[in-house]
Amino acid sequence: MGPLSAPPCTQRITWKGFLLTASLLNFWNPPTSAQVTIEAQPPKLSEGKDVLLLVHNLPQNLTGYTWYKGQMTDLYHYITSYVVDNDIIISGPAYTGRETVYSNASLLIQNVTWEDTGPYTLHIIKRGDETREATGNFTITLYPKLPRPYITIDNLNPRENKDVLTFTCEPKSENYTYIWWLKGQSLPISPRVKRPIENRILILPSVTRNETGPYECQIRDRYGGFSSDPVTLNVLYGPDLPSIYPSFTYYHKGENLSLSCFADSNPPAQYSWTINGKFQLSGQKLSIPQITTKHSGLYACSVRNSATGKESSKSMTVKVS
Ligand SMILES: *[C@@H]1O[C@H](CO)[C@@H](O)[C@H](O)[C@H]1NC(C)=O
Ligand SMILES: *[C@@H]1O[C@H](CO)[C@@H](O)[C@H](O)[C@H]1NC(C)=O
Ligand SMILES: *[C@@H]1O[C@H](CO)[C@@H](O)[C@H](O)[C@H]1NC(C)=O
Ligand SMILES: *[C@@H]1O[C@H](CO)[C@@H](O)[C@H](O)[C@H]1NC(C)=O
Ligand SMILES: *[C@@H]1O[C@H](CO)[C@@H](O)[C@H](O)[C@H]1NC(C)=O
Ligand SMILES: *[C@@H]1O[C@H](CO)[C@@H](O)[C@H](O)[C@H]1NC(C)=O
Ligand SMILES: *[C@@H]1O[C@H](CO)[C@@H](O)[C@H](O)[C@H]1NC(C)=O
Repeated sequence: MGPLSAPPCTQRITWKGFLLTASLLNFWNPPTSAQVTIEAQPPKLSEGKDVLLLVHNLPQNLTGYTWYKGQMTDLYHYITSYVVDNDIIISGPAYTGRETVYSNASLLIQNVTWEDTGPYTLHIIKRGDETREATGNFTITLYPKLPRPYITIDNLNPRENKDVLTFTCEPKSENYTYIWWLKGQSLPISPRVKRPIENRILILPSVTRNETGPYECQIRDRYGGFSSDPVTLNVLYGPDLPSIYPSFTYYHKGENLSLSCFADSNPPAQYSWTINGKFQLSGQKLSIPQITTKHSGLYACSVRNSATGKESSKSMTVKVS
């Protein structure tokens, strides 16, 4: 008795027979003949996801293997085969176009549907006259598909430091956890932002321009998550204090004066120029060719954003000599 005294007939028994009598044969069968097992990864998944049927303890020296949908290994249930010697993949009547068999016998099924549930059988063929078979079996369990969440928002064009903004993630369910994303990053917890009702609602008390961008909400349950379409916030702000370029103030007569004004603003500010309080023109640029000493004075650029109702101005003294 003992592992080395195994009777030669054990080489000839079928895999199925081996499984049935495994406990009887344990004392002479070395533990290296581990049972072929099939593991679904992930073990639990929802509709539309991919599952990989991992084959563990695949025996050596195989000529090929075949996957069947269900427990019957007939042509009707034949999904796909892999022929080791020629590295060939063959598709059968049960192949849907979503199955991929790998050289290690594992089977990938993409975009699973309810019809994919049920057992699968793997048929392994060994080389030479020692043809053996192994059957495995597993079941895909599908969970109810999550609905696509969506964001409702009370104001898509809030004014900076003025408007209170409320985002709500729909639909409502006690079964979901809610996560908010801004520009593809999970929104950090900050004392400024309030998140009542288990994070389903997001309140920005006085929105800033930095909070512009695409917001998404995600719902999660035990089995997966699903994100909403992005909602892009367009925060109205400014105009900030304008700047005048170039900033130098001394000119020689005969030079061309060309001043530009810029103020950050959303939407872009409306610009106007005055000299000594007298309106000159609307627009960002003020150009006076071949200036004379009469053009000395106080030049001012005024900016206005009708969406925020804010105004600002900047002035500089120009001296022509
Ligand atoms: C594989 O099979 C061939 C021919 O049947 C045999 O000569 C060889 O020893 C086997 N190799 C292994 C690793 O079992
Ligand atoms: C899986 O579904 C996605 C989206 O519906 C599709 O783009 C992809 O081609 C599908 N894959 C297969 C293998 O059918
Ligand atoms: C088989 O191959 C697939 C694809 O390369 C891989 O993802 C999987 O982990 C492999 N299975 C095993 C049991 O190594
Ligand atoms: C497949 O799995 C089911 C449920 O786990 C079980 O009842 C059945 O006997 C298995 N079939 C085979 C061939 O292993
Ligand atoms: C939440 O889950 C429970 C049990 O899984 C279910 O009965 C209930 O209908 C779910 N509620 C909603 C709003 O989906
Ligand atoms: C906006 O972000 C910039 C840098 O990213 C920072 O300097 C500025 O203080 C922020 N403004 C507000 C109003 O939070
Ligand atoms: C001022 O502009 C005119 C054309 O508008 C140009 O001919 C002239 O050379 C410019 N003078 C200076 C000093 O740049």
